[in-house]
Amino acid sequence: MNRKPMVLEMTTYHQHIPVLLNESVEGLITDKDGLYIDGTLGGGGHSKEILKHLGENGRLYGIDQDDEALEAASSNIGDDPRFTPIKGNFGYLSTLLPPQTHGQVAGILLDLGVSTHQIKEAERGFSFQEDGPLDMRMGNLSGVSAYQVVNEYEYEKLRDVIFHYGEEKQSRQIARAIIENRPIETTGELQSVVSSVVNKRFEVKSLARVFQGIRIEVNRELDMLKRVMEESLEVLKPGGRIVAISYHSLEDRIVKRFFKAGNFEGKVEKDFYGNPISPIKPVNKQVITPKKEEVSVNPASRSAKLRIAEKIEGGDS
Ligand SMILES: C[S@@+](CC[C@H](N)C(=O)[O-])C[C@H]1O[C@@H](n2cnc3c(N)ncnc32)[C@H](O)[C@@H]1O
Repeated sequence: MNRKPMVLEMTTYHQHIPVLLNESVEGLITDKDGLYIDGTLGGGGHSKEILKHLGENGRLYGIDQDDEALEAASSNIGDDPRFTPIKGNFGYLSTLLPPQTHGQVAGILLDLGVSTHQIKEAERGFSFQEDGPLDMRMGNLSGVSAYQVVNEYEYEKLRDVIFHYGEEKQSRQIARAIIENRPIETTGELQSVVSSVVNKRFEVKSLARVFQGIRIEVNRELDMLKRVMEESLEVLKPGGRIVAISYHSLEDRIVKRFFKAGNFEGKVEKDFYGNPISPIKPVNKQVITPKKEEVSVNPASRSAKLRIAEKIEGGDS
């Protein structure tokens, strides 16, 4: 299988500095000749480092739903026979991987969220600091765009996206203001509408939260994260690891609970004798966060949380 991404006419790929690079790669690799998955290839920063640690029999599949990421990563990594890029959504991990790899994977890396490139490229519509079309789709595979969420969702649905996915308290006022100002065509227009109703002291935070909420809705990020957690157990071998870097509490809660219990309630089931029967166990007791030096060089890393877990023998989903 060799699904090379198509070559796009691209200007520049805005450089993405990989977050918690050493900590994540060290936590991931347990066998230098094993098979690994980078589920969030991006610019290939983590993948390149993983390949440095693998032997000549090691293999790496790099998944991303974004053509621009696949192209940038492929040129960053160069021609390496151990590396195969795959276009797709990691939520469908088991169908993206060849069946003979199921149960053979030694480690899966997930560096969640958006890349610096996606944020900085105004045309992608992720940023309230750049004026662009209301898009926010990470790949061209996902259904709705930010335009539809902003212009077509009814009041309750829009308010809930802003409240639950953006964790923004002024969700009601913001949803009402958006509806009153429809149609809203660009990120700049959305930014002005939101700014006109939020508390000025927290304006930037509120904008970030509203944009985050819409982005999570557009890309169904939490559903896909839950899917990839469950599908990981199908493809990992016993002792294989999942390494997840999350950037906000909604993601981190899903990862933490699943790593503890193998479910999203975080409640460990027990057998008849009271022994825990989770299919997975955390490797690091404490969450790993970036050191001060990393945050000063790369402020985008400031909210990162790294967790590592291991599939237990017999822990197939
Ligand atoms: C934070 S960036 C990864 C950066 C990468 N680790 C690096 O060092 O260059 C996240 C990437 O994951 C991709 N992504 C996010 N959710 C995805 C999903 N559900 N399926 C596939 N790719 C996804 C995004 O398109 C983006 O390119």
